[in-house]
Amino acid sequence: MSSDIHHDDHADGIVEAGQKAPRYFYLLYFGLIIWGVIFMAYYLFSGWSSSQEFEEKMAAHTGVQAVAAVPKAATAGTLDASVLFASHCAGCHGADGKGGYGTDLSRSDYTYGKDATSIRTSITKGRGGKMPSFGEQLSTAEVDALVNFALKL
Ligand code: HEC
Repeated sequence: MSSDIHHDDHADGIVEAGQKAPRYFYLLYFGLIIWGVIFMAYYLFSGWSSSQEFEEKMAAHTGVQAVAAVPKAATAGTLDASVLFASHCAGCHGADGKGGYGTDLSRSDYTYGKDATSIRTSITKGRGGKMPSFGEQLSTAEVDALVNFALKL
C-alpha cells in the first residue's frame, strides 16, 4: 500500500518524513534545559531567597536615606517657596501669581483675607470648592514658606 504511505507523507502537501529539525531548534531546546539547570542551582539550591535579598537592599537603601536626611533637615529653614509655588500653585494662579484660573494673589487684599492666618487656612483647607486643600500634601514648613511668598506678592 505504497499509496497510503505516500498519502501520509504528503497530507498537507509538505514533505515531512526524513527531514531533520534545524540546528537552531536543538540549540534552543538543549540551551533551555541547561539554562534551567543553572537557574535551579543558583536560585533554588543555593539558599538564595527573594525576601532576604529585599531585606538587604532595603537596609542598604535606608542607610543611604539616613545619611541623606541630615542635610535635608538642615536646609529645611531655607525652603525655596518659588519652587514650591511653581510646582503646586502656578498652574492655576499663574507663574507670577497674578492669576489665571485661580485668583490674582498679588492683590493687596484677598477675598478671604491677606494675613498669615487666613492665607494658611486658604492653602491647607482650600477655598470655595475651587482652591484645592494642600494640608495633606505640604508640610507645615512648606505652607509657612508659601504663606510668606503670597504675602510678598
Ligand atoms: C486647581 C487650581 C488651584 C491650585 C492648584 C491652587 N489654587 Fe489657590 N485658588 C484657586 C481658586 C479658583 C481660588 C479662588 C477660590 C474662591 O475665591 O473661592 C484660589 C484661592 C486661593 C487663595 C485665597 C485668595 C483670596 O482671595 O482669598 C490663596 C491664598 C491661594 N489660592 C493660594 C494658593 C497656593 C499658595 C497654592 C499652591 C499651594 C494654590 N493656591 C493652588 C485655585 C487654585
